[in-house]
Amino acid sequence: MSVRKSIKDYLKEDIEDISKLLSLALKKSKEQLFSNPNYELNNIELNALDNLIEQRNDGKPFAYLKGSQGFYDLDFIVSSATLIPRPETELLIDITLDTFDINSKINALDLGTGSGVIAITLSEKYLNWSISATDQSMAALKIAQLNTDKNINFYHGNWFDPLPKEKFDLIVSNPPYINDHDPHLKSLGYEPIEALISGSDGLDDIRKIILQAPQFLNQAGYLLLEHGYNQKNHIIDLLKESFENIKAFKDINKIDRAILAQLR
Ligand SMILES: C[S@@+](CC[C@H](N)C(=O)[O-])C[C@H]1O[C@@H](n2cnc3c(N)ncnc32)[C@H](O)[C@@H]1O
Repeated sequence: MSVRKSIKDYLKEDIEDISKLLSLALKKSKEQLFSNPNYELNNIELNALDNLIEQRNDGKPFAYLKGSQGFYDLDFIVSSATLIPRPETELLIDITLDTFDINSKINALDLGTGSGVIAITLSEKYLNWSISATDQSMAALKIAQLNTDKNINFYHGNWFDPLPKEKFDLIVSNPPYINDHDPHLKSLGYEPIEALISGSDGLDDIRKIILQAPQFLNQAGYLLLEHGYNQKNHIIDLLKESFENIKAFKDINKIDRAILAQLR
């Protein structure tokens, strides 16, 4: 005879993300779970939950189990082809909102768009902007396209290579910036490696972007980059060649995380 288990039984167990997993397996909100603690799961629900618990115990991030992740004020489809959007990246949206008026009309580019979080969030805030986005992963671009019904120009290829002859007023990017021997990579094994690593100091892609950006920026155009916790000074040095008004920003955890610079 199978043992019946209730929502309350599971909530008492020490299982990572159990309330979120219950919510997913039972297709119920957390509020519904907590208001029915004595509900006993049927066999289909038990199997679904066991399967989710097993995957979560193996280290699969919850966002990949759910198939979506919140970013700023929207929810985005994610898959194993896309990085899971991080709260730190919301800083790029805040900096943009502080730099450009909501009624402005500019041409913007998101390099390495992944699930599309930056380009799409900006397209929701700035109704008059023309927005383009690139990624070298076709699978990621397909997810980005599923995430929006806005008229964003998506291009497949290496950084600036797939773009038509066009200049931008803002180029924003959260590129890969982890060095290829960083021990933290072990815990990121479910995410696409090409979204994470960038050479022996993590700066290979940032160097390429900084070098090429001036050709694609209008006069006094802005470059906005997310970066790793120890890369600020190096990036400022790289930017000084062609940029001015260089400003550094810390993330919600007070860690150096983004740099905004203006073409000289
Ligand atoms: C750190 S993820 C950022 C994804 C998304 N913008 C975000 O913030 O969640 C970096 C993205 O850059 C893309 N990428 C890596 N190398 C690239 C290249 N050479 N050209 C274009 N995109 C690249 C990856 O596929 C990945 O989607």
